[in-house]
Amino acid sequence: MLRTQTCGELTAENEGQVAVLIGWVDAVRDHGGVRFVDLRDRYGRTQVTLHPDNLGGAEIPTLRAEQVLRIEGAVNMRPDGMRNPKLTTGDIELIATSVQVVGDCPALPFDLSDVGGGDVNEELRFQYRFLDMRRDSVKRRFILRSDLLHELRQFLHGEEFVELETPVLTKSTPEGARDFLVPSRLNPGEFYALPQSPQIFKQLFMVAGFDRYMQIVRCFRDEDLRADRQPEFTQLDLELACVEEDDVIDVVERMVAQVISRLKGIDIPTPFPRLSFADSVARYGTDAPDLRSPLVLETLDDLVDRIPFNIFQKAVEAGGHVKGLRIPGGGAWSRKVVTELEGFVKNFGAGGLAWVKSNEDAWVGPLSRFLEGESKTLVAERMHAEVGDLLLFVADAKKSVVNQSLAQLRKEIARREGHNDPEQLAVCWVTEFPLFDSDDDGNPTPCHHPFTAPHPEDVGLLDSEPLRARARAYDLVLNGFEIGGGSIRIHQRDLQERVFQRIGIGPEEAVEKFSFLLEALKYGAPPHGGIALGIDRLAMLLVGDSSIREVIAFPKTQRGGCPLTDAPSPVDPAQLAELGLELAPKVPAPTE
Ligand code: AMO
Ligand code: AMP
Repeated sequence: MLRTQTCGELTAENEGQVAVLIGWVDAVRDHGGVRFVDLRDRYGRTQVTLHPDNLGGAEIPTLRAEQVLRIEGAVNMRPDGMRNPKLTTGDIELIATSVQVVGDCPALPFDLSDVGGGDVNEELRFQYRFLDMRRDSVKRRFILRSDLLHELRQFLHGEEFVELETPVLTKSTPEGARDFLVPSRLNPGEFYALPQSPQIFKQLFMVAGFDRYMQIVRCFRDEDLRADRQPEFTQLDLELACVEEDDVIDVVERMVAQVISRLKGIDIPTPFPRLSFADSVARYGTDAPDLRSPLVLETLDDLVDRIPFNIFQKAVEAGGHVKGLRIPGGGAWSRKVVTELEGFVKNFGAGGLAWVKSNEDAWVGPLSRFLEGESKTLVAERMHAEVGDLLLFVADAKKSVVNQSLAQLRKEIARREGHNDPEQLAVCWVTEFPLFDSDDDGNPTPCHHPFTAPHPEDVGLLDSEPLRARARAYDLVLNGFEIGGGSIRIHQRDLQERVFQRIGIGPEEAVEKFSFLLEALKYGAPPHGGIALGIDRLAMLLVGDSSIREVIAFPKTQRGGCPLTDAPSPVDPAQLAELGLELAPKVPAPTE
């Protein structure tokens, strides 16, 4: 037997027994002749006492942090006063009778102690992820992620979902990002695409009659990376037949509530709050609101002709917005803070930040001279202002600038006010998304994906006013992050063809790209719908991180590189030749 116990196992019950442990050197303390080693593994730490007398005269090897030692010894009760009630193994020590360095370790590239570890350069940590992961705080994240996957599977298997797999070498699926392409050696000049999601395949499972499908699946999207976006990420993918929005929402709510209760001991009441897309943007400036903050945006658009402030009036005349945030108690904030906030919103394109404080005696601040008499009363009413508040406003000819800058400001104020406790989980659904966004040329493009069913009342708008049509789509939002998105699908071939047509995919292109779906829709497709949850984002929020890289074992950097393997990297010319590929002389990196 290589080891008899793990480093988290020995207790007073083992007193007097011989034990063999294998673990990493967590710390060494030298007490003149006697050395104490904390031996660590996934399960815990055990204190080992090394004294030449007990080692049969053998010399104690040179000990360094992070070596792997195999130690045989006798389990001994620690002397009174030396016990550590914080450790499971804190009552005992192992008196070593033999020590073997089974894996030596050079000087470390960074300090692994949990305290120092936080400041280490991220790229270095990911280059040496195998060391980084030795730390308890890092390991804890991956164990939680593992438990999360286990709980999700267990719930869904219990609800008769069938776990089915879909190809990774496949054809492009339109989730709105660029595809990663894989050249085919057997078909020179032709390419597979890595799936952005298994969207079409899961719909085919519904046509095939599986009724309830689930998969924990890797998806690939070549898009600009952010803290919550990686080029490869994991979805919990679901699809159900014979369902409407409420059926999908119900399963997901019960699943999410159960899993969070089991993993975190936090009870999230069901049903989750629901907001329409329009309300969400109106109240929070975004379709992924963080409901931990109580602040709500108010619009002044209909009041501006009675507020003689030019900037406000011009913005609304130009088809834009004037919206504001009320900060209860913000009247006490210094001018310096308000100036910081103004700088903050300017980063998001706002032209400025108009403000006024509702002090007891009078309103003060740059906006106060425009708010007298009627205009003051109107604004006070609209903003629900009370004495001691700070009122902040952004005006712009572009509604998106007003919404985005105030959404960010709301988040920033939540951060300053401590309304961002990661132990508080605020979840909601956002529903009734538009079916289409308009692209740069004003043409409709799918807001979710082109298989999303239009709202039944809005099918007539497809030809007349497509941008006004609502979709049967829903997003799940947790603490300001979109953690899931899905929809009821189109299951009639003719409607699917109409939607393709609307987004500029003519009949020929539709057949070339999606003939397998269009064919399937001919052969008896039941109504169906589903959703995919972003596992990385969910895991990130459950451990209280702000980057999904922390819960991905071997993540990519901002430029899509892997610090560990150094991928992507050039390939042998012979490999290219075999694929029938030739490189252009110098491929400049995209600058986006
Ligand atoms: P969607 O594109 O909304 O829907 O993706 C579902 C969820 O996946 C997560 N996600 C990501 N996580 C990390 N990095 C990324 N680059 C990334 N992109 C998306 C988000 C998102 O909510 N096929 C549809 C689902 C459906 O209609 O059933 C789809 O993929 O949390
Ligand atoms: P000014 O008239 O330039 O002194 O501006 C008066 C106030 O209006 C200042 O507090 C500016 O920050 C603010 N302001 C300027 N542009 C905007 C804008 N687009 N939205 C909101 N406030 C603005």
